[in-house]
Order: sequence, then C-alpha cells, then structure tokens
Amino acid sequence: MDVRIALIVSLCLMGFTCAEPVKYKDCGSTSGKVAMVDISPCATQPCQLHKGQSYSVNVTFNSAVESQTSKALVHGIIAGVPVPFPIPVEDGCKSGIQCPIQKQQNYHYLNSLPVKSEYPAIKLVVEWELRDDNNKDFFCICFPVQIVS
Ligand SMILES: *[C@@H]1O[C@H](CO)[C@@H](O)[C@H](O)[C@H]1NC(C)=O
Repeated sequence: MDVRIALIVSLCLMGFTCAEPVKYKDCGSTSGKVAMVDISPCATQPCQLHKGQSYSVNVTFNSAVESQTSKALVHGIIAGVPVPFPIPVEDGCKSGIQCPIQKQQNYHYLNSLPVKSEYPAIKLVVEWELRDDNNKDFFCICFPVQIVS
C-alpha cells in the first residue's frame, strides 16, 4: 500500500479528524448546488456518532437564487420514516451564512449535530435541508450514520 494512504488510514483509525468528504445523496437541491459535505470527526463511512458528543457539519454549496432567509430542517430517517432531529440553531443566517443570500455565490453552512445519550444505538439516514424564502431547498443532503454508545 502507498505510504501516504497507509498513514491517512491509520490516523483516521486513531480518531483524528480526517478532511475526507462525506458520501451523500442529493435529495432535491433546487435552489443551489452542493459542492462538499464535511462532518467532523468522521473517520469511517458511515460516520459513527457517539452518544453524548457533538459533531460539526460543513456544507459547501452554490446558491441559484437570492433569499433573505434560510432555515435548516433535519430529519433522521428510521426504517423509512422521517423523524424530526432537533438542532441547536435552525437559522441558516446564524450558521456561517451571511444573509441576504446572493445568487451564484459559494457559501459554507456550519452547524453542529448533537447526539443525545438517550438516542438508540442504530443505523439511520440523516436528511439535512436548508430552505430559502420560498421553502425550496438550497440543499437537501442525505447521508448514513451509525449511532454508537
Ligand atoms: C468548510 O469547508 C470548506 C471546503 O472544504 C473549507 O474551505 C472551509 O474552511 C470549511 N470551514 C470550516 C469552518 O471548517
């Protein structure tokens, strides 16, 4: 194996923050285009989320429309059923984005994903949306996670 790959893999296994982009599915970004999704720390895919910890989320996207507001909505999809997942700050304009959002600009949406200790230790899909003034999605991303104790 390539020495650099071996080093990166072993650092990741040791729990270091790896700037490895998360594999996600687009679930209907109509008011923007996603360039990159970063969750940290997330050394393996699917991301292992430890109960009682908080994870930082960084979504880089390009806006297709102007908007005064932006609002995030997060769901956990458990056995096909979307369950609302509370996040501390719903307002995208307070999550690294300077509002009003301009057309054709790159933005980094920054937020945290707190994993409460009462959550069950299961695998699920996280669906994260950021909506514009017209309730259309700047981005809608889906990525699998595994909650572990
Ligand atoms: C978010 O991700 C972008 C693209 O990788 C990067 O340029 C930026 O520094 C990141 N921001 C933070 C706060 O991590």
